[in-house]
Amino acid sequence: MASTTNQGLEVLYTREQIAKRVAEMGAQITRDLHGENLVMIGVLKGAAPFLADLSRAIEVDATFDFVATSSYGRGTRTSGAVKLIKDLDAPIEGKNVLVVEDILDTGLTLAYLRKLFLQHHPKTLRIATLLDKPSRRIETIEADYVGFSIPNLFVIGYGMDYAERYRNLPDICLMTPDHPE
Ligand code: IMP
Ligand code: MG
Repeated sequence: MASTTNQGLEVLYTREQIAKRVAEMGAQITRDLHGENLVMIGVLKGAAPFLADLSRAIEVDATFDFVATSSYGRGTRTSGAVKLIKDLDAPIEGKNVLVVEDILDTGLTLAYLRKLFLQHHPKTLRIATLLDKPSRRIETIEADYVGFSIPNLFVIGYGMDYAERYRNLPDICLMTPDHPE
């Protein structure tokens, strides 16, 4: 029987499961960096809690930067049109870059960002995503670090929203049809 939150939402991953997995991801990233510095680039807004926790599980010097994207209109994602609405603050040329995303879904956002960032010639570019929905992919793109791979479910919490709500839920929950609001 799945656990539920006090809002009656079904929990997919508890805060404890998230913390354990984020710690494992941080340890793996630390090993892969061999002591080199890192620029962590969070994709606003959903990746903010994940970046905050992941950064503290990585044992190298890391700086933060953030970008924000939007797709042209809801429900038109298959057009592939992604727009940058907040650019990087600092150059990434020659740096080890880790793009941090909450969820890799169709791949349109990360494919767009990867192409954009590669034009700036980073030393390395890796992608960490907390969740991956491989069955939804339109663009061919994989993350280097995946927290949890999930089927085609709509999730909320730990940064992820439904119409900007629920981002501050500490657990990752399922957005069920009987909870549209
Ligand atoms: P993509 O370009 O389709 O890969 O879009 C990824 C973005 O879509 C994520 O960063 C989320 O903002 C959003 N997204 C995709 N699936 C979900 C979900 O299940 N819950 C909340 N947001 C989602
Ligand atoms: Mg997002």
